[in-house]
Parts: sequence; C-alpha cells; structure tokens
Amino acid sequence: MATTSSAPGKVYLFGEHAVVYGEPAVPCAIGRRATVHVDQRPDGRLRVEAEDLSLDGFSVEYGRGETPDVDVPTPLVQAAVGYVEEAVAQARDAIGDSEAGFDVTIESNIPLGAGLGSSAAVVVAAIDAATRSHGVTLDKPELADRAYQVEHSVQDGEASRADTFCSTMGGAVRVEGDECVRLSDVPDLPIVVGYDGGSGDTATLVAGVRSLKEEYDFAADAIASIGDVTRRGTAALEADDVRELGRLMNFNHGLLAALGVSGRSLEEMVWAAREAGASGAKLTGAGGGGCIAVLDDTDASLTALRYLPGCEEAFRAGLDREGVRRL
Ligand code: MEV
Repeated sequence: MATTSSAPGKVYLFGEHAVVYGEPAVPCAIGRRATVHVDQRPDGRLRVEAEDLSLDGFSVEYGRGETPDVDVPTPLVQAAVGYVEEAVAQARDAIGDSEAGFDVTIESNIPLGAGLGSSAAVVVAAIDAATRSHGVTLDKPELADRAYQVEHSVQDGEASRADTFCSTMGGAVRVEGDECVRLSDVPDLPIVVGYDGGSGDTATLVAGVRSLKEEYDFAADAIASIGDVTRRGTAALEADDVRELGRLMNFNHGLLAALGVSGRSLEEMVWAAREAGASGAKLTGAGGGGCIAVLDDTDASLTALRYLPGCEEAFRAGLDREGVRRL
C-alpha cells in the first residue's frame, strides 16, 4: 500500500538546550511541513529519495547490512539518512516485520538543521507513513514516543521529547522530562522567522553546553534560569500577553548566547528584529546558525530581516494546530 503523512516544523518559544537537563520547554508547531510518501517494497531494501530539503535533493538505496551510498554526501544529507534509517527501524518494530522494505520519498519546506525541527518532522511523518503502509495506525502518543527514540539514538542519547512531541501533536506544547502536554487555548501568535541560510550541528552544540555546565556552576545556573524564564513564559502565553512573552524570549536568548550557542548571523538577525520594534527575538533550536523566532504583530521586523544581508529568508509562521496529518 502507498501512504503519505506529513508533520510540521516548530519554533521554540522557550527552553531549548535546558530541556535536555529536565527543565521545561515550550515549542510551538508552525505551518511548514515535511511530507513523506512510502511504498512497500517486496525485496526488503530501503530507498530514500529527498526532493527538497533546502538542498539539491538526494537519493540512496541499500539493503540490510549494506552501507548507504548517498549521491550527495554532505554531512547534512548523511544526518538526514541517519534519521530516516532509524525511523524505518521503529516502523519495522511497530509492524513486527524486521524484513519489511520501503521506498521513502521526502518533500519538505523546512530548512534542514536550522532550528525548525526538520528532523523531528521527517521522523514523525516517516514512521507514520511507513507503519500505515503495512496497515498499522499508531496512536499519537506511541508515534511521538517512537519518534523520540529515533532522535535519542541519532543524537547519542542527548535529546528531549520536545521536538517530536510538538511535531506529532501540533499547537504549542510544554515538555519537562517525560511529561509532555499540549497547551490549550493558545492564541495565534505573530511569529516571524528569520533564516540565515546556515545550520548548526545539534549533537556538537548540545555537547558544548554540557561541557560548560560541567565546568562552571554559573553555566548550570544559566540552564536553571532558562527553566525559570520558561515557567514565566508559559504563564504569559496562557494570559495572551505578547509584550511579556517577547521580553522573556529576549531574556532566554541572552542566556543561550551565554551558553555559547548563538552566532554572528543569529545575533545580527535578532538585533535587526528588535531594532525594528519586535516584541521579542531569540534563536530557535540548537543554534550555531539557522533560524530566529520573532514576535511582531507589525510587518516591520519582517521587512528589516528581508533587507538584512545575512538573512536569506524571512517569513511569517502561523501556529499549526494539527500535528501529524494522514493524507
Ligand atoms: C534541538 O532542536 C533542541 C535541543 O534542545 C535538543 C533537544 O531538545 O533534543 C537543543
């Protein structure tokens, strides 16, 4: 059977990195999606084709025990294949057939490795489409859990449930350790995304934060402070207080910068948005390079970002309340 599923990307309003150490985080799904088409294959092999992952696309085909020979062997593509491979392993486990073969085609308008949860969206949609291609429909909590297991294994055990839970459920969610809840009554937020065209390596950035935390008590304090900001931010979100949300996002960004995960182009975008009058602006996701999330109910920061030489793309991102979609 041929099946198609899609899942949204996300921005972090609060809490990335700190969430890895049990602090709360609030990611929020946005209207950019990864769509995965899956066909069963009788020969037990896996073929992965990506049509648009902000790259020129790639394809790879291999059988069990063979090494994937990717036609565009960049680190980002290798990483994408790693996520898909683990997602397929989860699907094989869920359908109870370790020999199942799949043709997987991925389309996505979420930039890869740029802090918008591209890997989580691909993983959620791939597990969902692959299991359904064998007549098994997972409930959302199991789908989110299996997707988390993929990130946990690809990211060397340094992953939280935040990205995968948010992409599965949609809307704004709060994740603290294993406790994941979808927040109700979240208003439509005036989110703008700025993208510098770059990316960061999640595993390396997470490891960098860990070593700072181990070396300096004040780095550990900064992580705990991100938790405090997130708790206040959750209250501001529930009260629909965009001004306070923005101020807290700015504070969260400062703490992330102190932990070494910002970068020049992210800072330039953050300051362009703030100087244009945004309520708040912060990097989103692992950092290094990639995207910032801005709150602005005017078009001023969108315009400022579009004129900023270091910003490749800027767009409005509406809250996606749907999560995984079965097509
Ligand atoms: C990456 O999108 C977010 C991090 O907090 C890692 C994770 O939560 O798995 C940096």
